[in-house]
Amino acid sequence: MNFDQQFDRRSTESVKWNYFPEDVLPLWVADMDFQCPPEVLAALHQRVEHGIFGYGFPPADLAEIVAARLQRRHGWRPDVEQISYVPGVVSGVNLALRAVCQPGDAVIVNTPAYPPFFSAPESANLLCVCNPLVQNADGSYALDFERFEDQIQQEKVNAFILCNPQNPTGRVFTREELLHMAEICLRHKVTIISDEIHCDIIFDQNQHIPIASLAPEIAADTITFIAPSKTFNLAGLYASVAIIQNAELAESFNRVKRGIISGPSLLALTAARAAYKDGDAWLEELLVYLKGNRDWLAEVLPEKLPGVRCCKPEGTFLAWLDWREVGLEGNPQQFLLKEARVGLNDGLEYGSDGVGFVRLNFGTQRAILSEAVERMSAALRRVTR
Ligand SMILES: Cc1ncc(COP(=O)(O)O)c(C=O)c1O
Repeated sequence: MNFDQQFDRRSTESVKWNYFPEDVLPLWVADMDFQCPPEVLAALHQRVEHGIFGYGFPPADLAEIVAARLQRRHGWRPDVEQISYVPGVVSGVNLALRAVCQPGDAVIVNTPAYPPFFSAPESANLLCVCNPLVQNADGSYALDFERFEDQIQQEKVNAFILCNPQNPTGRVFTREELLHMAEICLRHKVTIISDEIHCDIIFDQNQHIPIASLAPEIAADTITFIAPSKTFNLAGLYASVAIIQNAELAESFNRVKRGIISGPSLLALTAARAAYKDGDAWLEELLVYLKGNRDWLAEVLPEKLPGVRCCKPEGTFLAWLDWREVGLEGNPQQFLLKEARVGLNDGLEYGSDGVGFVRLNFGTQRAILSEAVERMSAALRRVTR
């Protein structure tokens, strides 16, 4: 694969490329600027050629493909009956909250958090309890378990939205961390809603561990979401996977879903099947390229953006940049948009502990990333000269 090849995405109604004015380089919303695996394109072409798009069942072998792949990659093998489909992970998380909580209940979320984790509880009339991740001296993030448990007890929390790998910090939680979280949740009867959408984008010696794989009693109170959307760059097609190993919980989930959320479209499922079945060789090459981008960024930042701190993400194609010590007068996202013409996500959207941060999506061609860094560097030099 030639991941350096650039494509015109503005002409395809891309959210990423059409949100900001044309002279802005967009490195924000979490999709990548790469074509998906050729195997996915071939499967879609073949299905489109048939020309009839009536109602369809999910591909009969898809659940088996998903289960076998989870076994291969993460040592977890849910039964095929425990696998179902939703269009998006965000819609899945919203449904899961409605399945496990009653209006007035409380949900706990680690912050900084992917913004829909704040809006999902709110739209289900649930209290969102923010549990701030704490930063180590090197800027890396960890859970404050004591505070996590205290908040769960005090606020009578019913559900925990876990994001692993974590967006925006790029943490890939260890087995010990996940066990500790799960023990606390089990102790207080808190259902875990685990968003593992970034589980395939993992670097170095880090390993993604599905929290439900840790023990049957954890699996019994967990709803897990995965998707091919980040892994294979299929976000606009909308096919995601829900894994629920407790039949009663699955029934509650299906009850709130029925008649309101349909399954993914047949083209989305065609793409998902091809990606999960035949896309992993492409993924291995992608991971090399993304790691190259991540490492290049870490290497040049001290010189190009002095004062900006970034802990190398362990997973995801997202870098969480701390501008607090740069001494800018205003908000760094606005500064970079106006002065560098680079479009990033504003850390503020990720909760109050994201103030002074921006999120940068490095799932793009190295030349684009490099141009963005040059623009940011020049803008910073202009104000700190
Ligand atoms: C943690 C996380 N969950 C969910 C999503 C989006 O999921 P979907 O588009 O399938 O709703 C994203 C996209 O950025 C994400 O980072």
